[in-house]
Amino acid sequence: MTAPLNHSAPITVEVALGDRGYDIVIGRDVLASLGERVARLRPGARTMIVTDRTVAQNWLEKTEAVLSAAGVAHGRVVVGEGEASKTYAGLEQVSEALIAAKIERNDLVIALGGGVVGDLAGFAASILRRGVDFVQVPTSLLAQVDSSVGGKTGINSPQGKNLLGAFHQPVLVIADTAVLDTLSPRQFRAGYAEVAKYGALGDEAFFAWLEANHAEIVSGGPAREHAIATSCRAKAAIVARDERETGERALLNLGHTFGHALEAATGFSDRLFHGEGVAIGMVLAAEFSAERGMMPASDAKRLQQHLAQVGLPTRLQDIAGFQQEGLADADALLGLMFQDKKVKRGKLTFILMEAIGRAVIVNDVEPTPVRDFLARQLARA
Ligand SMILES: NC(=O)c1ccc[n+]([C@@H]2O[C@H](COP(=O)([O-])OP(=O)(O)OC[C@H]3O[C@@H](n4cnc5c(N)ncnc54)[C@H](O)[C@@H]3O)[C@@H](O)[C@H]2O)c1
Ligand SMILES: [Zn+2]
Repeated sequence: MTAPLNHSAPITVEVALGDRGYDIVIGRDVLASLGERVARLRPGARTMIVTDRTVAQNWLEKTEAVLSAAGVAHGRVVVGEGEASKTYAGLEQVSEALIAAKIERNDLVIALGGGVVGDLAGFAASILRRGVDFVQVPTSLLAQVDSSVGGKTGINSPQGKNLLGAFHQPVLVIADTAVLDTLSPRQFRAGYAEVAKYGALGDEAFFAWLEANHAEIVSGGPAREHAIATSCRAKAAIVARDERETGERALLNLGHTFGHALEAATGFSDRLFHGEGVAIGMVLAAEFSAERGMMPASDAKRLQQHLAQVGLPTRLQDIAGFQQEGLADADALLGLMFQDKKVKRGKLTFILMEAIGRAVIVNDVEPTPVRDFLARQLARA
């Protein structure tokens, strides 16, 4: 698998969902085309940009300028950054701003930000006047390869993540790869875990390409566009076949059952970003699969080595503060997994692996072997 040699024309990935289908436009500086594209898609529509403070500092001025240049009317609502805004309070702030701006059924909400802004703005759009369309302008790597595609929107409840939400597909996704240059290296790496996930779950050739090209993805060469486009194609294909996650879409949760438990155990704090939890979670899923005799141990090792080489945490012991503060014990971690959505009648659903590039949904995992496996992982030096 080879990547294009230079930054060329934008890559367009189509999400084939019939009359709810849409384009994902990927490339350096594609943000400059947002105004024209919106004007063409929805002539005369007014827009409201939802963003967070950090993204606003870096990218709001440019976004407003390209909308103005195309004659698109725009307002703005700026929320605080991070999960603290994916709440009832954040939803209230955004919804009231949309109502005050008189955004109507034919207008557009523009989500300019990472996954938090995308989930929040998309959910607000889905309930405003029983549904207003929205455009995703994802600004984090995680949002460009994952959260902006597929139509899951929502907020957190004090009782758990993403418990309130709706399926609401965007009408357009603009993924400007140059926007990622202002993302912190740690946030970039966290998003990279989701890129590697697509290779690990369904595309060995892509995984091998990542092993050879990860440095250029980080530095911002053309490999970055190729990695993002390949990831979006993988997600778009799965979503087109299983929009509402009745089957195959669950494969996208590789690493997430372990990962969510670790995020919860660290209080959804800066100790562990979502993508970092996914990196550790994928390695745990791979090693658990190897232990069950489903996959060669060498494949689990290969996955761990690649993620570690990129600078991601891959062990429980890599979690910030693990040595000082420890982590929940194996029973508590298991309890956190049971709070997840993926439990049916006392058995856990896991995404396990048969090889790099071949993940499978296993519905009937008994809790005891998982607890024993976690206890051994926690006891590692
Ligand atoms: N809807 C879905 O399908 C889906 C899938 C995966 C994750 N998610 C959700 O996405 C969220 C995580 O997304 P995230 O990692 O993007 O988090 P985020 O939106 O909090 O962004 C991470 C941080 O990076 C900053 N940032 C974003 N873009 C920047 C840029 N270009 N320059 C400088 N700073 C920038 C943000 O201000 C924030 O502080 C979680 O809430 C998760 O539940 C949703
Ligand atoms: Zn994820």
